[in-house]
Amino acid sequence: MFASAIYDTATHTAPVPALDRSPSGAFKVGSDAHKRAFCSVLIDVFDPYKPSVLAWPKLSADAEKRLTSLPFWNIAVQTEGFASSRMQAMADTIVDPTIKEALSLNAFEEGRHKLVIRNMLRFYGIPLQEEKPYSTPQNAEALFIRTGYGECFDSFFAFGLFKLAKDSGYFPSELIDVFEPVVQEEARHIMFFVNWVAWNAANKPFFARLWFRMRCLYALGRAAFNRLSLASAAEDHGKSSHNFVVVGGETLTMGLTPRKLIETALAEDTRRMAPFNPHLLRPKIMPFLAKLILPFLP
Ligand SMILES: [Fe+2]
Ligand SMILES: [Fe+2]
Repeated sequence: MFASAIYDTATHTAPVPALDRSPSGAFKVGSDAHKRAFCSVLIDVFDPYKPSVLAWPKLSADAEKRLTSLPFWNIAVQTEGFASSRMQAMADTIVDPTIKEALSLNAFEEGRHKLVIRNMLRFYGIPLQEEKPYSTPQNAEALFIRTGYGECFDSFFAFGLFKLAKDSGYFPSELIDVFEPVVQEEARHIMFFVNWVAWNAANKPFFARLWFRMRCLYALGRAAFNRLSLASAAEDHGKSSHNFVVVGGETLTMGLTPRKLIETALAEDTRRMAPFNPHLLRPKIMPFLAKLILPFLP
C-alpha cells in the first residue's frame, strides 16, 4: 500500500518533506498549480510529532474529574478510526501521485489522532472500549466526500470549543497544548478537502461536473442530517448521546450563550485558516451558516 511505503505505520513516523510545492502567485481553480497548492497544505506543512512521546501533564483532581467525565472519548477514537480508513481507501483509488500522497498523509494523521486520544485515555485511566475493525468502504469516493463535509461541520465547532476550553481554564494549558496540533491538522484537512472538490469539479466535462456536484450536495445533506439528528438525540437523551460536538458543548460551555460559541468559532475559523496560501479556497459553508443565524441568537 502506498501509505505504508512512505509512512512507518509501526512507529507512526513520517519523513519531513523538503520541498515546498505551493506556488507563490495566483492560479486558476482546477489547474496544476492549484493542485500543488492544496496538496502542499498537507504534504509541506506536516508536523512530525509522535503520539507515543507526548507529555501528558499531571492534572489537579478537579481537572482530572472533568476530563474523565466527558462522555465522548470512545466515540472520538472510533470517529478518527473511520476517518483514517476512509481517507486511505480513497487514496488507494487515486492515480495522481501528489494527490495520492496528500490523501495518504491525511489518513495517517487521522490514525495518529486516534492514537493520541487512546494514549490519553490510557494515561488518565479512562476506560477504553475495544475497537471493531474498520471495514474498507465499497464506494471510497462517496464516503470520502461525506467524511470531508462532516469534518467541515465538526471542525468549525471544535475550533470554538477548543478556544473556549482554553480561555476558561476548564483544562490546564499543558493539556490544551498537547491537542493543539490535532486541532490545526483538522484545519489543514478541510482546506485540502474543499479545494480538492473544486479542483476535481473543474477538471470534469460539463455533465460529469454536474453529476459530481449533485453527489457532493447529497453528501453535504447526509453529513448535515447526521449531525442534526445527533443534536436532537442529545436533547432527548442528555449525556447518553454520542455526539462529540453537542455533548462537548454542553459540558464545556455551561452558562455560555449560543452566540458566544458561534462568534468564537467564527473568529477561530478565520485565525486558523489565515496561515494558508491566500489564493486557495476556504471552507465557506459553516462560516456562511453561522453568520446567517448569528443575528437570531441570544
Ligand atoms: Fe482527525
Ligand atoms: Fe481530519
